Amino acid sequence: MSMIEFLPEVADFLNAVQGLRIDGQRVAAPETIAVINPSTEAEIARVASADAAHVDMAVAAARQALSGPWGTMSGHDRGVLLWRLADAIEARKDIFGQLDALDNGKPFYKARDVDAVYSARHFRYFAGWASKIEGRTIPVSEPGRFNYTSVEPVGVCGLITPWNYPTLMVAWKLAPALAAGNTIVLKPAEQTPLSALYLADLALEIGFPPGVLNVVPGLGGTAGAALAAHKGVDKIGFTGSTETGRRIVAASTGNLKKVSLELGGKAANIIFPDADLASATDGAFWALFGNNGQSCTAGARLFVHASIREQVLAGLIQRANALSVGPGMARAAHDLGPIISQPQMDKVLSYVAQGEAEGARRVAGGHRLDQPGYFVAPTILDGVSDAMAVAREEIFGPVLAVLSFEDESEVLARANATEFGLAAGLWTNDLSRAHRMAARLQAGTIWINTWGDTDAASPFGGMKQSGYGREMGQEAIALYSQTKSVWLGIKESDLI
Ligand code: NAI
Ligand code: MG
Repeated sequence: MSMIEFLPEVADFLNAVQGLRIDGQRVAAPETIAVINPSTEAEIARVASADAAHVDMAVAAARQALSGPWGTMSGHDRGVLLWRLADAIEARKDIFGQLDALDNGKPFYKARDVDAVYSARHFRYFAGWASKIEGRTIPVSEPGRFNYTSVEPVGVCGLITPWNYPTLMVAWKLAPALAAGNTIVLKPAEQTPLSALYLADLALEIGFPPGVLNVVPGLGGTAGAALAAHKGVDKIGFTGSTETGRRIVAASTGNLKKVSLELGGKAANIIFPDADLASATDGAFWALFGNNGQSCTAGARLFVHASIREQVLAGLIQRANALSVGPGMARAAHDLGPIISQPQMDKVLSYVAQGEAEGARRVAGGHRLDQPGYFVAPTILDGVSDAMAVAREEIFGPVLAVLSFEDESEVLARANATEFGLAAGLWTNDLSRAHRMAARLQAGTIWINTWGDTDAASPFGGMKQSGYGREMGQEAIALYSQTKSVWLGIKESDLI
């Protein structure tokens, strides 16, 4: 198979043991993490693994940077830096694309044209916000009082990110946090630390003061836990599993730091019989199989009206069998890469087995591919019922559960009968139904006749146990800011 050659910058980056990035310096650590390419199962790099003492150093650097030039920098100037960072990411999108394709496994073209390009856009959107963070003057009822608000950064923000979109998940948090004037200690996922480290170097190169962005790759239970519990951290922004989200909230109680959480999901995607079936089938297919099912918004529970079930299922099976799956660095444009890791692949396959044992019918895929790498054939389970584990728990892999329904109120109740509430969607040409359902589905994002759209300008986040806080849009500025109310007493007698 023909592979894309490593760019010289990427080859150099992989050859050196990458240190932590603290206060503009590279810091070695006694422990290292082996970064595995999930497309080949080979070790491709070594990265320093932070322990609690390193997290201390990084938090101290971030604290210090708050009272340095960054702390007094105007919003305009922060915006200029963010815009420059966006340009730098875009100019180096091939490097970001290769780094994410290597440690995450996703196809290079997607890593470059989606993950890197959307990350750049994200920084550009929030570059604009940096100079537009304003307080209000508030007409209070007591005479002789003047009241206004000022909007300030929260302080030192610990950002803990997952492996499914290595650059993009960093961008989602980092851009608003920096726009609002915070300083950062970033703990990228242990599976995918490369692009976060590269981004820190780029930020320094284009003029961010040292200490504003510190990166401490390391294990969740070590570096992540130390950051979540750290008394010098004012806020944690986290994306990952609901289980880890709970741990982070528990760890936050020592200093009652602010926490925002983007957690798991088990999104319901509903096809009504009046939908445009070709686009609904296509949309429902990519709603799950996009990014190999490794998305918190994956349309994992597909409810198809009984009258069109056979037709839709046939279309899904045909698409699943036609997907091309291959290494992230393949020169050919594959649709999907591998699963992130051996444990994650094992988890996905054990869900398939459990689904079948509980009575679901496997109509596509379900097996590991006979080649190196953690590849799982795109899998469809038909005849899934609400009580099965595959209908209730987040699988986070290429496994689509197909369920059928008879009427709107029934499917609404079933769609909402989950602990999660990140996203939901429906396919219909009935406008009234679309609005009725959008109002009643319990999820932070509703997609109607589309799936998966996100935009830096549009708020994103979960209801119920999918988390709290909204990233993106103006909500994200609020998420990384705090409001101060200032009162001034005016003495009438002083007026001449
Ligand atoms: P995870 O939630 O454990 O890992 C996400 C991040 O949290 C990583 O940076 C990790 O190092 C860190 N972390 C882990 N334990 C921590 C702790 N005690 N304190 C602070 N930080 C900690 O996710 P994991 O184990 O990689 O995957 C397990 C499942 O989580 C997946 O199968 C999937 O269902 C879900 N998941 C959901 C994601 C989403 O986007 N909502 C992303 C990644 C995983
Ligand atoms: Mg975990």
